Amino acid sequence: MHDRMLTARTLPDLRAATAMLRHRHAHLSLVPTMGALHAGHTTLVTTARNTGGAVAASIFVNPLQFNANEDLSRYPRDEAGDLAKLEAAGCHLVWMPDVTTMYPPTGATTITPLGPALGWEGDARPGHFAGVATVCCKLFGQVRPDRAYFGEKDWQQLQVVTRMVADLALPLDIIGVETVREPDGLAMSSRNRFLTEAERTLAPALPTIMRRVVQALGGVGMASPVLAAARDELTQLGFDVDYLAVVDGPSLVAVDTGGAGRRLIAAARLGSVRLLDNMAC
Ligand code: PAJ
Repeated sequence: MHDRMLTARTLPDLRAATAMLRHRHAHLSLVPTMGALHAGHTTLVTTARNTGGAVAASIFVNPLQFNANEDLSRYPRDEAGDLAKLEAAGCHLVWMPDVTTMYPPTGATTITPLGPALGWEGDARPGHFAGVATVCCKLFGQVRPDRAYFGEKDWQQLQVVTRMVADLALPLDIIGVETVREPDGLAMSSRNRFLTEAERTLAPALPTIMRRVVQALGGVGMASPVLAAARDELTQLGFDVDYLAVVDGPSLVAVDTGGAGRRLIAAARLGSVRLLDNMAC
């Protein structure tokens, strides 16, 4: 049986749809997104789908996670395209709340994550992870999924959400999915469309140089000289490197060697686009 994908824009419609899916399926998974979907997002849906349960995706461009310097209105939106991609990926339900449904004027509670939310993206984007944690907590309360899927692409976000779910004893499992890349190695991102042709040609140098760092770390002890050389190389190529660091994966605390559970994380600007990437190291 292949039912048409459901959509819900109000809480009563969402309740009815999730009740029906829970009745028919052993479990319910959620894939939170902000739309402008690409193969990275749809891989989260197909991964969830392959576990056999029902899959809901949410599309909500969350104003709370954009700070004053970031242009919320520039965020790409393509609802019809997104719905077609989600249906093709086997999604059962799409939750598309509006801003008032998500943030009623009576709202008085937000979540402030510390620990893995400190540093890196937390420094570059003040308030960002409070916005992410708050919206994810609300989405989990609305959809009540048994599992939620997040991309490793946003490594720090995945750790912040995992930590929040553990700390607040929320009744779901967070599952991380490996970064989906373009054939040339560039991590897929809705921001890539803002790269000029020349920048797009240069962009895969970031993962290429990061992969070289990972290989070099396998052979030597200290990460700092390897990281400094890679940073110089990226700068000479035209990247404005925000950070390139080795961290303990779950806590995001900087360390000076690779090894089990460690992650090489990077943020670098190319023109107007801030590229993020990370790899096990
Ligand atoms: P968004 O940027 O739309 O990403 C939605 C999900 O897709 C996130 O879990 C992200 O890590 C994952 N994703 C993006 N690109 C990916 C890639 N190349 N490979 C694998 N997964 C990828 O992240 C957000 O939205 C928001 O912060 C959200 C969690 C929805 C809260 O508003």
